[in-house]
Amino acid sequence: MISPTTPVFEGDIFDDEVLNDPYPAYEELRGLGAAVYVPRHDCWVLPRYAQVRAALDDHRRFSSVDSVGLEPTLNERRRGGVLASDPPEHDVLRGVLSESLAPRALARLRTDIGRRAEELVAPLVERGTFDVVRDLARVFPVSVVADLIGMPLAAREEVLRFADAFFNTFGPLNDRTRQSLPVAETLFDELAAMMSRDHLEPGGWGEAVYRAADRGVIRTDQVVPLLRAYLVASMDTTINAIGSGLWLLAESPEAWRALREDRSLVPSVFEEILRYELPVQMFFRRTTRPVVYEDVVIPEQAQVSLLFGSANRDSRKWTDPDRFQVDRAPMDHVGFGYGVHGCAGQGLARIEAQAIFSALLDRVERIELAGPPRRHLNNVIRGLDSLPVTVTTRRV
Ligand code: HEM
Repeated sequence: MISPTTPVFEGDIFDDEVLNDPYPAYEELRGLGAAVYVPRHDCWVLPRYAQVRAALDDHRRFSSVDSVGLEPTLNERRRGGVLASDPPEHDVLRGVLSESLAPRALARLRTDIGRRAEELVAPLVERGTFDVVRDLARVFPVSVVADLIGMPLAAREEVLRFADAFFNTFGPLNDRTRQSLPVAETLFDELAAMMSRDHLEPGGWGEAVYRAADRGVIRTDQVVPLLRAYLVASMDTTINAIGSGLWLLAESPEAWRALREDRSLVPSVFEEILRYELPVQMFFRRTTRPVVYEDVVIPEQAQVSLLFGSANRDSRKWTDPDRFQVDRAPMDHVGFGYGVHGCAGQGLARIEAQAIFSALLDRVERIELAGPPRRHLNNVIRGLDSLPVTVTTRRV
């Protein structure tokens, strides 16, 4: 149902050049229309805020079943997981996750996570120069979440390699995905073994999910996929939020000063980081019936990219969207999604990132780049591979 008036984008949204700096392509897409057809991948894109947010809130027309990634064959492997199911099946899995990720459960963790952030940050600040991504962002979330699940920490590198490979498989079958498939395959089983009941510490989230299966709330074969969802969804997302956040703050001394003077800004600045430089650039959905946007019709059974990264830069929604603005407080950005699949771990992500920022703000007068940041390319995740910084401590 591509009519002569259908807006069409002839480029490749997964091309290296676009992934390096996607914002010109996003602007072009938003200018083309509310829904744009991309022949290269035979998919549609929603690039504007209003339609992304509405689609997230409409699982009846925008289904996640076998469709959160672009490729049908790769979607089959995610079948039945929390991310890849619709209500009512989805709600049962989500309910089990919510027991550990609910605000009351998280409140108990805040102090412990704050202490762990201090222990990690203090020696780095002492060193004066360190790599934000390698020494901090890639260390913290994996140790916090592995401990919460009750998993052995020895597998840190495997978890990180799996998460990166897994997120690539949400894109097309390009070179990045092809290289990731064997990594994802091998580590898929290794992680399952690490999450077997006898490997988990008692009292953690892992055990709680097994207990939900004992009570008959979920099936036994749903336990490991659910634990894997916890683990993978909480890695590159939080890692890149911390890495990109500290990059933006290192490039904006006024922002750092403002935060040092007024700590109550930290939570809202974290939301602005997610609006401006979002770790999850897109997920997909499949239309269950034709969806009409003025004179454009997306047909039934079409793969549709919900382009969060573009929605968060849409000038129809945000004033001066390409400016990182400390006092913006953009609480309704779509960086955590929205609706039934809205990020289950957003409370934990906020606690982790705010703990790292606060531990640095307590000690560091100035944070500056000590070399050029290096970008890591992934089909759906945006972030850095390296961010060398020098920090100057407060004179006592
Ligand atoms: C800054 C960090 C994070 C970002 C930007 C982020 C982003 C997102 C987004 C955009 C979605 C929506 C997916 C969709 O609509 O299909 C999502 C879902 C999800 N996230 Fe996060 N996430 C973050 C951290 C976390 C953490 C720390 C955890 C776990 C501890 C987590 C667990 C989940 C789970 C389980 C889902 C699936 C929810 C469902 O399908 O009902 N996330 N996340």
